[in-house]
Amino acid sequence: MLKSIGCGEVRAEHAGAQVTLAGWVHRRRDHGGLIFLDLRDSTGLVQVVAFPEDAGFATAESVRSEYVVQVQGEVARRKEGTENADLPTGEIEVRVASLRVLNEAETPPFPVNQDTEVAESTRLRYRYLDLRRERMQRNIRLRHRVVHLIRNFMSSRDFIEVETPVLGLATPEGARDYLVPSRVHPGSFYALPQSPQQWKQLLMVAGVDRYFQIARCYRDEDLRADRQPEFTQLDLEMAFVEQEDILRLTEDLYQHLAAEVGGFTVPAEFPRLTYAECMERFGSDKPDLRYGMEITDLTNDVRGTEFQVFTRVIEDGGRIRAIAVQGGADISRRGLDALTEVARENGASGLVWVQFTGEGPLDGITADDIKTPVSRFFSPEDLAGLGAACGAKRGDLLLIAAGADAMTSRVLDVLRRQLAEERGLADPDTLSFLFVTEFPMFEYDEDHERWSAVHHLFTSPFTDDLGIVESDPGAVRSHAYDLVCNGQEVASGSIRIHSRDVQMSVLRALGLSMDEAMLKFGHMLEAFTYGAPPHGGIAPGIDRTVALFARERDIREVIAFPKTKTASDLLMGAPAAVTAEQLKEVHVDLNAAAREHLAKQASEDEVEA
Ligand code: AMO
Repeated sequence: MLKSIGCGEVRAEHAGAQVTLAGWVHRRRDHGGLIFLDLRDSTGLVQVVAFPEDAGFATAESVRSEYVVQVQGEVARRKEGTENADLPTGEIEVRVASLRVLNEAETPPFPVNQDTEVAESTRLRYRYLDLRRERMQRNIRLRHRVVHLIRNFMSSRDFIEVETPVLGLATPEGARDYLVPSRVHPGSFYALPQSPQQWKQLLMVAGVDRYFQIARCYRDEDLRADRQPEFTQLDLEMAFVEQEDILRLTEDLYQHLAAEVGGFTVPAEFPRLTYAECMERFGSDKPDLRYGMEITDLTNDVRGTEFQVFTRVIEDGGRIRAIAVQGGADISRRGLDALTEVARENGASGLVWVQFTGEGPLDGITADDIKTPVSRFFSPEDLAGLGAACGAKRGDLLLIAAGADAMTSRVLDVLRRQLAEERGLADPDTLSFLFVTEFPMFEYDEDHERWSAVHHLFTSPFTDDLGIVESDPGAVRSHAYDLVCNGQEVASGSIRIHSRDVQMSVLRALGLSMDEAMLKFGHMLEAFTYGAPPHGGIAPGIDRTVALFARERDIREVIAFPKTKTASDLLMGAPAAVTAEQLKEVHVDLNAAAREHLAKQASEDEVEA
């Protein structure tokens, strides 16, 4: 080794010892003849000092930030009053006996030694420098730790890790596939797995009772803060289980991770809510339970009132739903207009607001203490009644949306999240896990005018609903479940179909002909005829899990080399054009649009150069 000890590992007990350190120059300070270097490696920082008479002094004078150096010297206690209590190495310094530059460094495009704001594109372009920074070092080390804990936990529960192919056949998970052309089979393509779903089910048929894999998945979909085109799952599957077994295992795993990582409050038992209950109470299937503002149905309370906006909606089969915002009576008129605009953007024709000013319960409140644009249609007692139904007091705000369930759910969910954010209601040290169960099996896809699977097509419908899979798909419940935390889906899974007939019925409900079913899923249907055991599983997203524990909002902060929002790798420059020769080998011709795009890009690159 080029070093005898890590920079961050030197302590007062080493005083008098000779050490060899190697790392990066974090900072250099000239102090009237003395040179101080903060030296950094993966273990931390240590202060190195060179006196003018030291052999390494001239070199110490010449080094700059991010130079790679090797220092040999004696550990000394710092003079009294110069200790740094913020650093684990703050009691000592290393007096330079020799200093060797192992490599020089250009001035970095952003300071590596500070957590300053840097443009995302610059961070990704120079990711190796970004990763040197403290926050990213912390995050990738935490990621390692979480994955290590997961592997040990799964092994301790008798799961075995099995690798499944990356070059395979498309597995539908709702996104587009990344395709890889075959050289050997002209005109044929592999699809990168959107998840190892089919492989893990085949492993169950193969008698592997308990499988897991830290699996890379690839999905060509619109990217957001919680989505990357390639991401990692803890993919797991068990045979001879029921939903309860999978939920228990998942809860145990997350309790274990939370206890080991530390620093978070986690529910002693993860609450379980059905999909229907979630939509009713929070307007979302991934509610953030760290704060209240639950939705109340006011339809019956406003039935028969003068306010036609409400009565018409009710006549059309819609509902009137509301949330109470604690302390929201202080929101300005402009603020309320902004909330109304958010409701409009989400499909509402408007938003009715009622502010109850003053303090205490709503009983006996007078018109003077109620601010609302609908005062003409409701008496103060009526409005107080609506407020009380939602749990409001004086000082609070009522936001009321009227319309179809899907719209009012969307609107109130968005408002609930936005207000919680603006008013700082979500405790950053709480991980509010819950399970959402009983998802519907199918949803109607208006764009393609057909039914699609809500989780995926291998999910088992409720036994009681098997008879209506094809006749009334919208009413079929499924054994699909999600683990949700702080308003985000963390894991998703289901009990699977293991019977060929049931699988065929689901495929027919999705509009597949027998021929299409055999072409795409013939291997699964066949495997089910050779003694497939009942089985089920789940797949927690590793990136999202680590981001939660790292208190990061964007999963890119916990991925070493993530892609941009347009799926580009700015460091390597992928995706990129390939040579005509390579295209020929894989039997691919570019169309005119692609050729034009490449030509345009090439000329832009030239201008830039
Ligand atoms: P699903 O598609 O719900 O289920 O994915 C499971 C979990 O994977 C994570 N995830 C993502 N993370 C980052 N970027 C993405 N683009 C992305 N997409 C999904 C989420 C999600 O909860 N085969 C099934 C699982 C099963 O049924 O066992 C599946 O993949 O955390």
